[in-house]
Amino acid sequence: MEKAQAYIRIQELREIINEANRKYYVDNSPAMSDYEFDMLLKELEALEGRYPEFITEDSPTRKVGSDLKNTGKKQKEFEQYPHRYPMLSLGNTYDIAEVQAFADRASKGIGNAFTYSCELKFDGTAICLTYRNGKLARALTRGDGAVGDDVTANVRNISNIPQELKVPAGFVPTLMDPQPWPEEFEIRGEIYMPWPAFDRLNEERLKDEEQPFANPRNAASGSLKLIDSSMVANRGLECTLYHMLGEDLPFQTHDQALKAAASWGLPVSDKRKICRSIDEIEEFITHWDTERKTLLFATDGIVIKINELPYQEELGYTAKFPRWAVAYKFKAEQALTKLLSIDYQVGRTGAVTPVANLEPVQLSGTVVKRASLHNADQMSQLDIHIGDYVYVEKGGEIIPKITGVELSRREADAVLPSFPETCPDCGTRLIRDEQEAKSFCPNQTGCPTQIKGRLVHFLSRKAMNVIAGEATIEQLYNKALVWNAADFYELQKEHLLTLDGWKEKSAERFLKSLDESRKVPFERVLYALGIRYVGETTAKSVARAFGNIEAIKNATVEELLKTDDIGQVIAESIYEFFRDDMNLDTVERLKAAGLKFETESGPVKLSEKLAGKTIVISGNFSISRDDMKALIVAHGGKSSGSVSGKTAYLLAGEKPGPEKIKKAESLGVEIIGEDEFRKMIE
Ligand code: IVH
Repeated sequence: MEKAQAYIRIQELREIINEANRKYYVDNSPAMSDYEFDMLLKELEALEGRYPEFITEDSPTRKVGSDLKNTGKKQKEFEQYPHRYPMLSLGNTYDIAEVQAFADRASKGIGNAFTYSCELKFDGTAICLTYRNGKLARALTRGDGAVGDDVTANVRNISNIPQELKVPAGFVPTLMDPQPWPEEFEIRGEIYMPWPAFDRLNEERLKDEEQPFANPRNAASGSLKLIDSSMVANRGLECTLYHMLGEDLPFQTHDQALKAAASWGLPVSDKRKICRSIDEIEEFITHWDTERKTLLFATDGIVIKINELPYQEELGYTAKFPRWAVAYKFKAEQALTKLLSIDYQVGRTGAVTPVANLEPVQLSGTVVKRASLHNADQMSQLDIHIGDYVYVEKGGEIIPKITGVELSRREADAVLPSFPETCPDCGTRLIRDEQEAKSFCPNQTGCPTQIKGRLVHFLSRKAMNVIAGEATIEQLYNKALVWNAADFYELQKEHLLTLDGWKEKSAERFLKSLDESRKVPFERVLYALGIRYVGETTAKSVARAFGNIEAIKNATVEELLKTDDIGQVIAESIYEFFRDDMNLDTVERLKAAGLKFETESGPVKLSEKLAGKTIVISGNFSISRDDMKALIVAHGGKSSGSVSGKTAYLLAGEKPGPEKIKKAESLGVEIIGEDEFRKMIE
């Protein structure tokens, strides 16, 4: 390629890669497969290798993949700390010949007396744990590789990460070695979400019409950054550790280090093998490329590491990768099958989603019969026809997705499907939301699927938790006994006894369950209302921040935006919900029925003592950080995540972030402690 052409291609590749990164990290909706992405990055690396004069500092080849993601909601502000040792990524390949080249380079550097440690490549989010005197002291995410987010509180809720190490049987303390582990060491690994937990989470998100996570990796990193640490425990995250670091560690090999870690109770994989030749490595790869389908978690490849620690040190690192390890990546599994028909499903918010019915086919251990087609745009992009042979991939979403069409097998009678113009349920003309590329049925008050969907959601376990299946709601709706959530609370036993199959006992049980739902806390009532985009977490944040329904109803979009976890789209959705007479009427009737419309602590406006003041908090306090923020807001102040010229005070608790202190000092922002703060609001 000529130099000028190379320059143009480099610019083009950078643009495509940056955009793909944005879609992956910011929109949480990958635009291409990992494989396609890696191929583009490799092409760019090769061109930059040939024309180093075109290398720029901001080239995507220079950056370690970020874990700082935005899932459309505001992220929790975490304290940030520098990594003691940079947290790098791995060079990767899809080609066994490149693994051979890696081995050749290594033996050129260190001779032939070394072994390889072959391990699974866990597909999650990287974590760095520090243990001090046997106790978990800190957990940092990768961040940008140099500085990570402190997610210790969240990590303490992951069940297989020990807070304290266990003394192995037979250990005898001596003066020299009073404890079995080094005084301080780091151990790095991956936090991931096994398939069953991932499927469950996405099922719930789909029910709530929240965007499902695109893959378990995104689900893991999103969950690790949850605002409410206690919610992490329910996400079913797991951790496997694979790299120990520290000063003067007493091990000769990586394998010894991991075995020691396992003996202290740390989660280390047993799916490892010490290999002595490239043939053995290849055997390990082939074995796991098939066997991985039986694993309960996602692996995207094999990591091959030089086992001897002195050799690792000798080989060292490039700016991005260790020279002593390489990742061989598996290609995503695909299956080819026939598209039989397309259903158009209406959700409770009126969104119409095309779902493909397929000739059943085996994929990653399950039989696939249905696949998602997302929206009309994707259908036309794929130029999909009924009767086509299509490729399906388990991208991780609850139902697999169609990633391509095998045009060579298109038959003459294949039919181009047309996206319906009217609602498949109620016949109302659909409207299209360009921004979301989705079609909606606007008939909120008359479309049976939407009405029933809202009622099902209202009674569901995480909302009002009333014992009633979809069949019950169907019966009640068909008899015109309920139409709106508030109707449930007006039901009498006599009404229920008119329903097929209902007896005294079942009617009483249902009414009792409804009665008990009056005790359900406000945050869940708010969730039950079914405001678009307001899932469980968001409902919790809004309920806590505003304290009661009146405050939420009267809040402006700007005020809603100040809440943790809330972005523009959600704020607008909440605002619009309370501008609708039908919704306002429902809320009034539910209030009259005795449901809870304020938090236990009641309305949160306590005073105006902090009016106009922006306060940044850092460190630990006598109450949780979230409660501290709520306290600031309750006294009329604003809580913000970062120190700037507009900050009135930096409220520093125990162990405040050194970066924040430095910034406050340099900007002349007053630093106050908890006692001083308490005096201010007395
Ligand atoms: S060793 C200096 N071992 O894959 C880097 N990494 O794509 C040492 N990963 O950054 C990393 N499984 O987050 C190592 N068995 C394993 C791994 C593993 C997954 C992750 C890790 C790494 C990324 C590279």
